Amino acid sequence: MKPRRSILSVPGHVEKMHARACNSSADVIMLDLEDSVPVDAKPDAPEVVINSIQTLDWGNKTLTVRINGLDTPFAYRDLIAIAEAVGDRIDSVVLPKTDHPGDVHFVSRMLDGIEMQRGFTLRIGIEAIIESARGMSNVSRIARASDRLRSLVFGIADYSASIRARLVSISGHGEESDIYPGHRWHFEMSRLVMAARANDLRVIDAPYGNFKDSDGLNRACAMTCALGFDGKWAIHPGQIDTINRIFSPSQADIARALKVIAAYENAKNRGRGAAAIDGRMIDGATLRMARQVKAQAEYLGLSALLPKK
Ligand code: GLV
Ligand code: MG
Repeated sequence: MKPRRSILSVPGHVEKMHARACNSSADVIMLDLEDSVPVDAKPDAPEVVINSIQTLDWGNKTLTVRINGLDTPFAYRDLIAIAEAVGDRIDSVVLPKTDHPGDVHFVSRMLDGIEMQRGFTLRIGIEAIIESARGMSNVSRIARASDRLRSLVFGIADYSASIRARLVSISGHGEESDIYPGHRWHFEMSRLVMAARANDLRVIDAPYGNFKDSDGLNRACAMTCALGFDGKWAIHPGQIDTINRIFSPSQADIARALKVIAAYENAKNRGRGAAAIDGRMIDGATLRMARQVKAQAEYLGLSALLPKK
């Protein structure tokens, strides 16, 4: 599986930004037809996106396209245009405002027909953005709505609007704030992680809007990474390296994981189920966490940090 730590969101109607995105260090490029495209530009934006996907050299970048919400006059046209023309080039359709499992069923059935008609052999995935109170309350059902689903994404800006939260932040959740004792989005983010993992999906965080505030971005990434998220959107190329770094296990993380695995093996060979490292107890659960770090390092190709086979 290819990494998905950083997802660079690029406005679909601005062709010159697509060429720059090709050369960025983002794992995924998401060409956006939704909120970064003004209404006047919406009818023509799918053609611009299709042209860029077909003509630019994307190397080994994973490509996705965010269509408009199903409650707009644009979504069905976006879906047909994009899937018919470049369904064999994109990894997934990103579905905003996913409120109900029926939204996923609708997109999935449309894709069934388009794939049959075009003779595509690889199935197009769906990434569902959960960004309303309705979507959040249905998230477990949405997460198991289709085997096309690949990720759940937390759309923090729309979610804030949906629940009528006070506009105390326009950047997401990395800004320092003493407005609430605790983290305002802890429940929602953990809820999303739980629903995603219960269905073997990835879970991705919304972007950090204040692209000049690197401390805030660091805080936001560290928090969601600790909660179990796989990656985060970027709305500016300057955010990508921080996101990639924080969502990759560090050298110290990998060294610690290998130490845990070795100590556990050692204890097991001596007939024990637990051991101690640096004065701390480790057991089967610690071993599982350590194995996840090792698997993630393998998945991200960090082989230089792993023992030679
Ligand atoms: C993303 O779509 C958001 O609403 O934050
Ligand atoms: Mg949104």
